Amino acid sequence: MESKEFQLRRKYLMETMGEDSIAILPTASTYYRNRDVAFPFRADSNFYYLTGFPEHEAVAVFIPSRDHGEYLLFCREEDPEKERWEGQRAGIKGACENYGADDAFPITDIDSILPGLLEGKDRIYYAIGYYLEFDRRLVNWINQIRRASRAGKRAPGELVALDHLLHEMRLIKSAQEIKAMREAARISAEAHIRAMQFCRPDIMEYQIEAEISHHFCNQGARSHAYPPIIGGGSNACILHYTDNNTRLKKNELLLIDAGAEYDYYAGDITRTFPVNGCFSPAQKAIYELVLEAQVAAINKVKLGNHWNDPHEAAVHILTEGLVSLGLLKGQVNTLIKKGYYRQFFMHRTGHWLGMDVHDVGDYKINDEWRVFEAGMVLTIEPGLYIPASPDIAKKWWNIGVRIEDDILVTKNGYEILSAAAPKTVDEIQSLMASS
Ligand code: GLY
Ligand code: MN
Ligand code: MN
Repeated sequence: MESKEFQLRRKYLMETMGEDSIAILPTASTYYRNRDVAFPFRADSNFYYLTGFPEHEAVAVFIPSRDHGEYLLFCREEDPEKERWEGQRAGIKGACENYGADDAFPITDIDSILPGLLEGKDRIYYAIGYYLEFDRRLVNWINQIRRASRAGKRAPGELVALDHLLHEMRLIKSAQEIKAMREAARISAEAHIRAMQFCRPDIMEYQIEAEISHHFCNQGARSHAYPPIIGGGSNACILHYTDNNTRLKKNELLLIDAGAEYDYYAGDITRTFPVNGCFSPAQKAIYELVLEAQVAAINKVKLGNHWNDPHEAAVHILTEGLVSLGLLKGQVNTLIKKGYYRQFFMHRTGHWLGMDVHDVGDYKINDEWRVFEAGMVLTIEPGLYIPASPDIAKKWWNIGVRIEDDILVTKNGYEILSAAAPKTVDEIQSLMASS
């Protein structure tokens, strides 16, 4: 992402905030996996969206129209001895020169500087409730000013949800964001192809995971956007299965939900295919029904339609199909109204996608489903998950199918960012037969 892009975002934010206000954004904390071993650090999405600053222990402050600079960054100071052990830091100089801060201060000085910046402002823009320790520090800074009221100091009176403002910005992707998302989707789609080519009976689910991780990292996507789901047979019916440690059997379906994070943007793709490369008639019937629902839902993504249109289309087709396969009995409209399809399809058809896999942005505005706008990116991911239950004919047991693509809303309709991952029965079977 070019530095100009971050600069434009900051400019827009500050224009929207108006004068007499201050915005404060800490980046994410470091989390520990065990004892002194930390999880790999990943910046907070809102913080990174405005700063492009990848280091931990940093806080960004925005003060529109401040004479001595509007964009302040608190970060770690240069420290040659520490850097020798832990790697390079931008430092105070780098924060200004390489990340566009007007002014930068050591993070260790924040307690003495921030109360002075807050004092006399009317409004604080802050996303409360995400970093509780930081919430507490902010309250302490405000209280410090309140205690000095007899000396004429004035604490801000209004706290405004900064996340809401930023989330509306993040919902509509710019050309550069779309470029990163195309790349995340390309890498993710290729990894799914690699998984289909590698898959064979009797290997472990985590061996498929290894192929996917290899491809992501090899392509410059150093992280998964979320823990991958690699579930064979009945594991495909566990919606958030991530153990990925079962041996794959020849007559099962394998469901893979895996997406790369590339330059802070997520891919999110699900493909389901037979472990032995050949769909059985029952697997094929369920698969083609989910695919029909997915294609119908994708076709509902266009300007003028609203967020729930794809879900409604998917539910309609799935319910009709479940009736013709004998898995549901009754009138389609009644079954939909009463939600009987939820025995087999218990999640929504999609979500916004962006820097976070379940990305930000409201789904309703004034209690009405939100209308699609160019630049939104969403997933379309209907599924059917059939439990091994005595009430259900045995041939359907443990068939779990989800098909998920990443869709960009365009002026003329949509673009399927993840289209390179095969999804018809023929495409999948021929790819697997030729591997
Ligand atoms: N991988 C998470 C989801 O599909 O929503
Ligand atoms: Mn998804
Ligand atoms: Mn997914």
